[in-house]
Amino acid sequence: MLFRGWDDAAVGGPWPDVATVVDHVGVPHLVVTRHALVRRVLADPATFRPDNALDAVTPIPVAALRVLAGHRFRLPPTLANNGGASHPAIRGVVADALHPARVAAQRPWLTGLVRERVARLRAALDAGVPVDLHAGLAADLPLLTLARLVELPDAPVGAVKEFARAALELFWAPLDADRQAALAEEVGRFHRVLRAFAATGGGLAARLRAAGHSPDVVVGALFFLLVAGQETTSQFLTLLLHRLHGEPAVRAGLRDGSVAVADVVEEGLRLEPPIVTWRRVAAVDTALGDTAVPAGTSVVAWLARAGRDPEVVAAPAEFRPGQRGSRRHLAFGAGAHRCVGDQLARLEAAVVVAEAADLLDGVRVVRPPWCPDNLTFRMPDTFVVARP
Ligand code: HEM
Repeated sequence: MLFRGWDDAAVGGPWPDVATVVDHVGVPHLVVTRHALVRRVLADPATFRPDNALDAVTPIPVAALRVLAGHRFRLPPTLANNGGASHPAIRGVVADALHPARVAAQRPWLTGLVRERVARLRAALDAGVPVDLHAGLAADLPLLTLARLVELPDAPVGAVKEFARAALELFWAPLDADRQAALAEEVGRFHRVLRAFAATGGGLAARLRAAGHSPDVVVGALFFLLVAGQETTSQFLTLLLHRLHGEPAVRAGLRDGSVAVADVVEEGLRLEPPIVTWRRVAAVDTALGDTAVPAGTSVVAWLARAGRDPEVVAAPAEFRPGQRGSRRHLAFGAGAHRCVGDQLARLEAAVVVAEAADLLDGVRVVRPPWCPDNLTFRMPDTFVVARP
């Protein structure tokens, strides 16, 4: 069976609680669909270890591995794929950098930036020019915010975005060998840049060094953060804006104050999660429901589907901010590895919804977001709107 994590979550028919599927490249996974089982898998790292979180879905062939080795690419377990004893300490340093108080302090700056962009986009729409809300609003916003929080040097935005999307493709997409070699070159090249920064950079890099972490660990943590800490959120912003275009009643509620911005963000995370699935690996022979799970099985926690579990949400397919169960989505995972950037992502989304939702009034979609084939990330490329 071919597994398309997003399409099947959104429109697929009934699924069993646990299903064996063979993904695009012939690798078998056990897909877990029900909210309760997904939560159990994520929150029990002793039985379902996180070690495979960053394993390439399409096994990387020798030629591409040589390209990576040529760049001295190494990705030791640091955060999402670290089931070892070093995880809490590394996570602690990152969590300090993303402390809710530090995140909240970004609000005025972020609001100013979004307002400026929205004004520019509105002027273009008024002049009859189509605008791309992904490129013009969502794409680099999370990276610019992250750069302030973890003190990246004047981040070369284009280069980081290209690297991050290359990494998401290399590790989570079905690929042929030529494409893998090209992506390995891009990811490897960026790894070199990161190594130089990790050795001398301030902010988070300096704090990780001061906490005694090895250079490889500093690079590994920054590598993951530059992908997870910005690309996910820019994807979410674009998907949420697109969804809101199709929800005029919700926009009207935002306008008259009967719908809360925070509820829109949570319902958005439930129905339009940028991360559709997340993997764990069974550490021992175990079972999920009636299904035996041998040690070593790749278990795919289907986050997008769990958000639509009728046992949890009253109207699973409908965008109803504040409905019962809306906030119980698993878009940020669960347990010891639960997303450490959730407050930052929520702030960014709240500011964008508050400032940009009414840009969607009276526009038509020229080009909806297109999402490539990927086991885990949705990666919308663009969202173009215009006045009719
Ligand atoms: C809408 C945006 C985001 C979504 C949907 C998201 C989702 C996730 C998910 C599903 C996980 C895996 C959780 C698990 O294994 O149980 C994760 C982990 C993580 N996320 Fe996020 N994330 C987002 C934004 C961010 C941001 C903005 C940052 C940081 C700036 C961030 C940093 C991390 C880190 C460091 C981890 C690994 C945590 C650990 O292993 O201890 N994420 N995220």
